[in-house]
Formats: sequence, structure tokens, C-alpha cells
Amino acid sequence: WLAIIGVAIAAYFLGSIPTGYLAGKLLGGIDIRAHGSKSTGATNVLRILGKWPALIVLVVDVLKGATAVAFAQWLCLWLDLQNLSPWAVLIAGLAALLGHGRSIWLNFTGGKSAATGLGVLLAMSPMVGLGAVLIWAGSLAISRIVSLSSILAALTAIVFVLGLEQPLAYRFLVIAGGVYVIVRHAANIQRLLAGTEPRLGQAPS
Ligand code: G3P
Repeated sequence: WLAIIGVAIAAYFLGSIPTGYLAGKLLGGIDIRAHGSKSTGATNVLRILGKWPALIVLVVDVLKGATAVAFAQWLCLWLDLQNLSPWAVLIAGLAALLGHGRSIWLNFTGGKSAATGLGVLLAMSPMVGLGAVLIWAGSLAISRIVSLSSILAALTAIVFVLGLEQPLAYRFLVIAGGVYVIVRHAANIQRLLAGTEPRLGQAPS
């Protein structure tokens, strides 16, 4: 249990690192949460600060999720608790998503956890992660709407993890994490339904 609690705390703090917020402060002297979609994610950083800051935020946010999962796997290996590993990954993944979406450093605000979720998926099962990336990229190429693509990628990950041979804990992780990411997109879903969701690089009106 101590290992699981340690994993949860470490993953939450890893996810909490406010990458997009720091980019806004360091590069623009602004609070990114007051601009565009108000999210601290890479998509909003792209709108407000441009391509390179967005790319860096995207990579770091993916790494936060992947590192949380890798840490859980490593700890279980190190403590010789391999049978616990998928459950530790479940806790680490969810804690990292929560940390990104509700950061302790940002009064429990943050991003929508899509990039961090991708990192979790890639470290958990590269196959499921790549499936999600492919659908995300294909949808983005066609629609030019990031939120729609993120929602479709979350749904794809759920279908993949159920369709492929995966541990039960991974299935729980992807379903709960996918639902979390989709719920964080509530405002986007409203705009999508109203036909007002902005395309890549544009700001919501
Ligand atoms: O990952 C977040 C993306 O799907 C939507 O971001 O800023 O358009 O709400 P945003």
C-alpha cells in the first residue's frame, strides 16, 4: 500500500507541473488561463504564444504522463511486486491526469489532460497509444479541430484497450482516464454542437 500511495503522490505532482502556465509567464508575461480557451494545454499555448512554445509544452506534457507510468512500473519491479504493477500503473495514470487537469500550483485549474493522457497510454501500451495518435492526427488533418480530435482519440483508446488483450487494470485506467479527458472538454463539446468551436490556431469567440 505504501508503494501505491507513493506512486499516487509522485504521479500527481508530476502531472501538476504547470508547463503551459509557466510558458505563458516566461515567454509572454501573461496568465494563459485568462486567454483563448483558458486551458493551460498545448492547444491554447499554440493560440496565444505560437508554434515553438506549444511544441515544447506538448512534449513535456506527454512526458509527464509517460514518466508517471514508467515510475510506477519501475517501482514495482524494484520492490519485486510485479503482480501489482498494472494496478500501480492505473493509480499513476489517473493521478497524473488529475494533476494536469487540477494542478496544486494553479488553484486546482489546468489543462484538459489529452497530452498527458497520451503519455500515459504510450508508456502503458504503445499499441493503444499509437492507435490514439493515428486517429487524433487523421481527425486533425480532416477537421482542423483539436478538441474534436482529442475526444475521438480518447474514444479510440477505450475501444482499443477493450479490443486488445490487456490487463483489467489497464482497461479501468483507459476507460476512467478517457471519460475524464472527455468531461474536461465539456465547454468544447458545447461549442462543437453549436458549430462555434475554433479551428487550429483560432481562439474561441
Ligand atoms: O487537449 C486540449 C484540446 O483538445 C482542446 O484545447 O484549448 O481548444 O480547449 P482547447
